[in-house]
Amino acid sequence: MSLSTPAATPSGRPPRWVGPALLALVAAVVVLLGLLAASIMERRWEAQQPALIVRPLAEWEPDNAAWGENYPREHESYLRTRGATTRTKFGGSFPRDYLDEDPLLVVLYGGSAFSKDYRQARGHYYSVQDVAATKRVGPAAVGTCWTCKSTDVPRLMAAMGAKEFYAAKFDDLRPQVAHPIGCQDCHDPRTMTLRITRPALRDALAARARRPEDAAHQEMRSLVCAQCHAEYYFREGTHLVFPWAKGLSVEEMIAYYDEHNFTDYTHAVSKAAIVKAQHPDYELYASGIHAYRGVACADCHMPYRTEGAVKFTSHHVQSPLLDVAVSCAVCHRWSEEEIRARVEVVQAKTAGAKASAEKALAAAHFDVAAAAQAGSADADLAGARRLIRHAQFRWDYVASSNGMGFHSPQEAMRILGEAMKEAQESRLLAARLLARRGVAAEPKHPDVSTREKAAAVVAAFAEGRPPSLLP
Ligand code: HEC
Ligand code: HEC
Ligand code: HEC
Ligand code: HEC
Repeated sequence: MSLSTPAATPSGRPPRWVGPALLALVAAVVVLLGLLAASIMERRWEAQQPALIVRPLAEWEPDNAAWGENYPREHESYLRTRGATTRTKFGGSFPRDYLDEDPLLVVLYGGSAFSKDYRQARGHYYSVQDVAATKRVGPAAVGTCWTCKSTDVPRLMAAMGAKEFYAAKFDDLRPQVAHPIGCQDCHDPRTMTLRITRPALRDALAARARRPEDAAHQEMRSLVCAQCHAEYYFREGTHLVFPWAKGLSVEEMIAYYDEHNFTDYTHAVSKAAIVKAQHPDYELYASGIHAYRGVACADCHMPYRTEGAVKFTSHHVQSPLLDVAVSCAVCHRWSEEEIRARVEVVQAKTAGAKASAEKALAAAHFDVAAAAQAGSADADLAGARRLIRHAQFRWDYVASSNGMGFHSPQEAMRILGEAMKEAQESRLLAARLLARRGVAAEPKHPDVSTREKAAAVVAAFAEGRPPSLLP
């Protein structure tokens, strides 16, 4: 007897209980399906809402651990930025000493604190410790130097006003700055949406007739980083400004700085008026293929992870090469070895061009100094010094950007090529000035092959007792 044919009554109709039983069965299935659907919806909701709000957050809550009570996965992954020993060929988070590795930097930065202390950046967890320890920040430092280092900054700016915050002394603010970069820097504590907390980016966008509120969600996934990973200068000694008014390209920035007559330091050797580029990560990225295709900083540096049924954003911001399976391979179906190799080929080419530009620039600084020693007047040297100013800013735009050219390979190579060309042009002008003074042979360039030797040469120039460069 099959279930589909209940025992027929003598009349040939199904028995009387069959109707209600079917109804009950259907009702039970409907209820079960409903429960299942509700459970699925709830899981989706859970996945989107990573955790229930355990405790409401204060508007300017600086403590990452307090946010962590509500969002433990994000907080735990954030805490992994404490790892400070990772190495890749050109990056990682160990404190690589750039000056030991590349003594020419001591020459090019001669006259600025970068020639004394310049190390590779570590994870966000260390931002407060590292800025407090660097020799580049001395007793004269201003509040502005804290801007990109701590979640206490938005709170202090709200209380004091941004202008007053910048103008305060670095040391006077020190007791009030305790928490490293974190949740408050990128999130609204009530809605957890991404938000811009730093006025310099807001102002820079406004100068281009844009507001962060109008940016699409995907763009915000880069703009939160651009708050700090961008080129900047201190206008009138304290006010933090991104030189974006004319545009983000290296040429537009040079035009901006020239128009504003801005100089960071006078070069110890050549006396050229140098603008120190400060990691224009966002700007260089913006000229590359990934930005063009709408791939955001967070796509590579904050990939998604899953924990059980929950998908969340890794807040362990680091070199993507340390985990290409989640950072690149989600979009590129290449093997992990190939992905890494392609990045390293780009980086090695950039590093080669960067080294050539450094050699040309160092030679230009010495040639111009030699022309000055031979008696050329400042007015005659102005053209050569101006070429150095521009060449060095170009070189530095790439050199101080993180990622060794990967964020925009072609643009990085183009800029370094231009830097080399301008440095050579400067040398040519210096050679002409020397010839006018009867110096036909090449100037003598001092030995700067180690950090110590380079530092001694720079110090001799800075202290007004330079070695003679005349042949
Ligand atoms: C397409 C992927 C991708 C995008 C998008 C991207 N990066 Fe990177 N980034 C990389 C790679 C690859 C490196 C090189 C890492 C290395 O050499 O170990 C890197 C390096 C860095 C570094 C240095 C890390 C280290 O350990 O040396 C920083 C800082 C950085 N990027 C910031 C940014 C910012 C800010 C943005 C957006 C404006 C961005 N990146 C966009 C892939 C990306
Ligand atoms: C440098 C900026 C930045 C910092 C600092 C930061 N976040 Fe995020 N956070 C992001 C980005 C980008 C996303 C992805 C948002 C999106 O695409 O909607 C995100 C997403 C989230 C989400 C949404 C769920 C998810 O995982 O995608 C939560 C919750 C969150 N972050 C919590 C935190 C907490 C807690 C901290 C501090 C420990 C923190 N964030 C620090 C940038 C940041
Ligand atoms: C509030 C300022 C600020 C914001 C916002 C910010 N960064 Fe950073 N970032 C820093 C500073 C400062 C350091 C260097 C910290 C140190 O060395 O102590 C750093 C370091 C890094 C490093 C190097 C870490 C390592 O281990 O190699 C990477 C990569 C990075 N940031 C990427 C990003 C990305 C991607 C975003 C956006 C999602 C972002 N940052 C947002 C200020 C910021
Ligand atoms: C969200 C998706 C996405 C992620 C994540 C991503 N990329 Fe890409 N990548 C693209 C797109 C889109 C292009 C442009 C392809 C095109 O237009 O031909 C591209 C282009 C490239 C190219 C140039 C390709 C070529 O043929 O010349 C390289 C190299 C590359 N990506 C490497 C990486 C690496 C390394 C990472 C991880 C650090 C990464 N990408 C992460 C989407 C992504």
